[in-house]
Parts: sequence; C-alpha cells; structure tokens
Amino acid sequence: MNVKIMVTGATGDYGRYALAYLQKFAPDADLYGLVRRDGQGADLSKRGIHLRVGDYANLPAMTQALRGIDRLLFVSTPTPAVQKNVVLAAQKNQVGYVAYTSIYRPDLAKFGLERNHLQTERWLKSAGLHYTALRNDWYLEVNQAMFTMAKRAHAFPYFSTDGVLSFALKREYAEAGARVISGAGAGEVVNLAGTPVTYPELGAATQAAVGHALRIQPVTETAFMSQMTQAGIMGAGVADAYQQYACDPQNGARDADSTEFERLLGHPLTPYAAAIRELL
Ligand SMILES: NC(=O)c1ccc[n+]([C@@H]2O[C@H](COP(=O)([O-])OP(=O)(O)OC[C@H]3O[C@@H](n4cnc5c(N)ncnc54)[C@H](OP(=O)(O)O)[C@@H]3O)[C@@H](O)[C@H]2O)c1
Repeated sequence: MNVKIMVTGATGDYGRYALAYLQKFAPDADLYGLVRRDGQGADLSKRGIHLRVGDYANLPAMTQALRGIDRLLFVSTPTPAVQKNVVLAAQKNQVGYVAYTSIYRPDLAKFGLERNHLQTERWLKSAGLHYTALRNDWYLEVNQAMFTMAKRAHAFPYFSTDGVLSFALKREYAEAGARVISGAGAGEVVNLAGTPVTYPELGAATQAAVGHALRIQPVTETAFMSQMTQAGIMGAGVADAYQQYACDPQNGARDADSTEFERLLGHPLTPYAAAIRELL
C-alpha cells in the first residue's frame, strides 16, 4: 500500500509549494491536502491531490480528516488554541510521523509567535507522536512591500541601518518540509535559517534584482512609512515591523546559520538577489 502523506494549509502558499515538491520527491505516495471548507482546492484535486476537509477549530472534523494518514506535514496557523486539535487528531489516528512548521530560535522573542510554536511542540511531544519541528526562520516575502517599492518607485528607503535579520524564500522552507516528511528520517528539531543580512545589503541585492539604479536611502521610520504610503504600497506595516525587529540586538539573527538548511535541501539557498527577483 502506498504511504499516505497529508499537508495541512493546502490552499496556502507553503502548503501548495510543499504538495508540488512532494509530487516530485514522493511520486509513489498518495498525497492529501487538508482544506478548511468544502469547495476549496479544486485546482489541487485536478493535479491528483486527494482533498480532506477540516477546520483546526473542529476536533471531530479534524479526527475524521486524518483517518488513515501515515504522515502529516502540519502547517501552523497563528491561533494557538486550535493547533491542539490537530495534535489530538493525529494522536487519535496514530499518525506515524508529523513534521510541524515551527519557528527558528523559539527561545527568543518573535512577536509573541514563539509561545504558540513552543506550546505546539510540547503538545506533539506529550502526545507521544514521532515528530520533527521544522524551525523556520523568516520568509523573505515579509519584505514584499520594499521590493514592490523598489520596482515601482526606484527607491529602497530603510530605517534599520545596522540591524540584522535572516530570510529564505517560502518555497525553500516548503521544499525542506517536503524532504523531511517524505524521508521521515529527521530528528526532533531541524533548524532552517537563512543568511544574516542588513537592510542596506538587502537594498543592494534588490538593486541587482531589478537591474537598474535605486535610491537606497536611510530615512526615519516616519519618512519610511510616508514614502511607502505615498507610493501606494500595500503591506508597508509588515515591512516596518520587521525592520523594527531587526534593530533589536537581542534578536539572535547575527548567529543565524544556514548550514543545516542547505544540507537538508542538498543545494545552497537562493542568493538574496536571485530570490528577490522571484518576488518582483
Ligand atoms: N516564517 C515566517 O516568516 C512566517 C511568516 C508568515 C507566516 N508564517 C507561518 O507559516 C504558515 C504558512 O504560511 P503561508 O504563507 O502558507 O500562509 P497562508 O498562505 O496564509 O496559508 C495558511 C493556510 O492555513 C489554512 N488555515 C488557516 N487557519 C486554519 C484553520 N483554522 N483550519 C484549517 N486550515 C487553516 C488556510 O486556509 P484558508 O485558505 O481557508 O484560509 C491556508 O490554507 C502561516 O500560517 C504562519 O503560521 C511564517
């Protein structure tokens, strides 16, 4: 019998990437996608993905949705309480292996998100499940507003001058998740970090990505927000929050190390300029 692998959050970006990678890495597996509501995921179904319906908030529905599943790639949501139901449903169905999308360095402050991830890791452990916590660093996509600004207004204003963060593409984290769940041989924790980078360096990478000169300028935070707003850029608040976070010397990003991530992928992470080009 073929192994049955389910990816939750199948209609989201990470879930879609992970399912596409699994079609490559596990061609003999039966692949399942969890959708929240009936009628979602028709395109996935056309690509040969079996669909199951369940909202994390609904334990009976989740228990039904996970019936017969051997391995689960559990994509996190920011709502802590509901994640327990996914763990309980996996336990009830004796799912053989779970890979959970956690957060890199959950011992550090991460907008409070670290509490949800640590709690979910604890639930997985106490449920007696065989699991791997995929401790994902930041998505490069959190800076999308800045890349759009560079393309639209030929400018890369920033207020985090020395602060450091580390990023990788969402699809790269999903590739790692697909490799882990299809191989089922990873340990309890896998650290998936990008390469440390400052915002001026990110500006230079963005300039290389767009292929023409940008005004890469340090500005005040107020000026940053007003320039983004005047240019009609969506999501500037997210970019602002990450720059503020970069300024925190305790954020641990200077020590981020991509070795484990790249070893797991079997190839290097996409350099920042090429990765940004994908998002333009
Ligand atoms: N590392 C980072 O920088 C970073 C940044 C942002 C987010 N994240 C985390 O990574 C996760 C995946 O990212 P993404 O970009 O793929 O997110 P996304 O595109 O928003 O997808 C989230 C998926 O989860 C599903 N979902 C949400 N709540 C659910 C519930 N209660 N029951 C069942 N399904 C539910 C959504 O279903 P619907 O389509 O029905 O909404 C969607 O399929 C996020 O949810 C978040 O926890 C990480």
